[in-house]
Amino acid sequence: MFNNRIRIKALLAQEPQGQEVTVMGWVRTFRNNQFIALNDGSTNNNLQVVVELGKFDEALLKRFTTSASLKVTGTVVASQGKGQTLELKATSIEVLGDSDAEAYPLQPKKHSLEFLREKAHLRFRTNTFGSVFRIRHALAFAIHQFFNEKGFVYMHTPVITASDAEGAGEMFRVTTLPFDNPPRNEDNSINFKEDFFGRSTNLTVSGQLEGELGATAFGDIYTFGPTFRAENSNTARHLAEFWMIEPEMAFCDLEDNMNLAEEFIQYLIRYAMEHNREDLEFLAQRLAEEEKALPQDKRSEMGLLEKLEFVVSNKFERLTYTEAIEILRESNHNKKKKFQYPITGWGMDLQSEHERYLVEKHFKKPVILTNYPKEIKAFYMRQNEDGKTVAAMDILAPGIGEIVGGSQREERQDRLEARMKEMHIPTEELWWYLDTRRFGTVPHAGFGLGFERMVQFVTGMTNIRDVIAFPRTPKSAEF
Ligand code: 4AD
Ligand code: MG
Repeated sequence: MFNNRIRIKALLAQEPQGQEVTVMGWVRTFRNNQFIALNDGSTNNNLQVVVELGKFDEALLKRFTTSASLKVTGTVVASQGKGQTLELKATSIEVLGDSDAEAYPLQPKKHSLEFLREKAHLRFRTNTFGSVFRIRHALAFAIHQFFNEKGFVYMHTPVITASDAEGAGEMFRVTTLPFDNPPRNEDNSINFKEDFFGRSTNLTVSGQLEGELGATAFGDIYTFGPTFRAENSNTARHLAEFWMIEPEMAFCDLEDNMNLAEEFIQYLIRYAMEHNREDLEFLAQRLAEEEKALPQDKRSEMGLLEKLEFVVSNKFERLTYTEAIEILRESNHNKKKKFQYPITGWGMDLQSEHERYLVEKHFKKPVILTNYPKEIKAFYMRQNEDGKTVAAMDILAPGIGEIVGGSQREERQDRLEARMKEMHIPTEELWWYLDTRRFGTVPHAGFGLGFERMVQFVTGMTNIRDVIAFPRTPKSAEF
């Protein structure tokens, strides 16, 4: 058997009692021809491997270069040096894979996040990305745990679809037709009947519509998968490929929906605080360092851990879109014309600068905005009695802006079809969706949480490209 190793995280939690163990990992540094800092990705804390002078060949020592992979067996002893309580006195060291230190792009020094984005294939080997991706994993696990505890069914909705769930037209087409000479109809339009699926298809923008089919049978479902948007937004909060969690609940109204979303977000944060303390402390420190370079008014008022603690222990602020517009209109920020997009009045779509003003300057806590004008929201949202608004809700988070979008759904078939016609959504193509309203329709609601935005919120990373392994953004799909 090759692998009888102990993970470094588990080893560092043991008492040093001269026990013999085997570890495997990558060299971070090798000092004084004596001390190897070995990391295996289980924690940012390196294991100090002590190489006794004269015990190993000079030729072998030369191979302990940065990022070389090693298998080390030795005895665990209390450390004499500072910075660690135990160390491993090596009895045998095997180089599993050499690493050319000259060519290895990551030096044992601080690199900028921009530089590391270009080395995304290796950036997991840094402390920052080690912490971020262990937390991302923990949050993904916590999501399944949360819904499983509540009796929700995990549903896998298709990645390739023929419908535009958001009706926003921001889709990536999926086709096997040749570009240079596609089959054409008599009017010269492309004949998608000849395409692989016999129709025009795209990558999904949301699993919601299929999720509603599940909810109207199982009661409560959730999806958790990749979604794709061909929106040309080159911002620190947009990806062309991102992961979304979409719960959908039958027998549920807007208020139930908001309650679940708030509980869910707080659960995830609490989970990370309990299970990823060390990594969060590292990232809190990193963020504090980074913010030192910013002018006073751009720094966060709270440290990362303080912010997370605050969000789990305070209720989110709830108000309507109409109230939010009033607050924004009356704000000094608006009167002094400090918004890039001025508050023109009721009916306007909120920009992220407006959302962030409400959250970061006005309320100083997460905010749930409800009852948006129907013109700026999707066709499936339940129409309110005022004839102007829909039962939508968006959750806005400090430093992020919109993190959740959701609504109560229009369960009344006549109202839904009328709205679809007004918005030019093809009712014939969505016959299967409309069937849920025909056969035992029920009040139901759901929401979508952007997974990367949630990871950003918990880790304090300011750019969304740094919380997904291999970001897909306009003009960029390396790795
Ligand atoms: O508000 P959105 O577009 O809502 C929906 O897709 C609904 N079908 C959800 C539902 O009700 N089941 O997207 C939901 C969330 C946003 O709040 C945001 O957090 C995230 O998905 N999101 C993005 N994250 C990264 N990059 C993008 N381009 C994103 N677009 C949306
Ligand atoms: Mg939205």
